[in-house]
Amino acid sequence: MGLRKIVEQGDDCLTKVCRSVTDFNARLHTLLDDMTETLQAAEGAGLAAPQVGVLRRVCIVMDAETEEYIELVNPEILFQKGEQTGPEGCLSIPGKWGLVTRPEWVRIRAQDRNGSWFEVEGEGLTARCFCHELEHLDGHMYTEHIDRFLTEEELVEYMGEDREA
Ligand code: NI
Repeated sequence: MGLRKIVEQGDDCLTKVCRSVTDFNARLHTLLDDMTETLQAAEGAGLAAPQVGVLRRVCIVMDAETEEYIELVNPEILFQKGEQTGPEGCLSIPGKWGLVTRPEWVRIRAQDRNGSWFEVEGEGLTARCFCHELEHLDGHMYTEHIDRFLTEEELVEYMGEDREA
């Protein structure tokens, strides 16, 4: 167990397509434990394995309602509906935010740490987080969806409604 270093934008790890997990072993469990600990310490809403330098299809998403951490291995989006536009940040781009349009609701299929498949749904901030983290696994970042970062004033304005990281 331990904190992992979060890489920042510009690091090659963030532009690579990650490989599927095939071995649901102790090494994976340590990675998941470390990622949750790292995410908690950073007070973020989600973290993808490439952000800690591991090019595997693994991410952690915090359920915005229950504040529980959801471990996702080899996740994929099954369905999505609706649309929302709101401020989005990333632990690999500290202190910056941009307005991103995402589905309002998504259903995800993923494996748990032991390899069992499950489905999970999320709406609002949780749906946004699922989409953001899954993109990381294909080497994409939210900045590809924005023209510019939000100003401090804009951020304060938007954060009056929502709060996320
Ligand atoms: Ni991110």
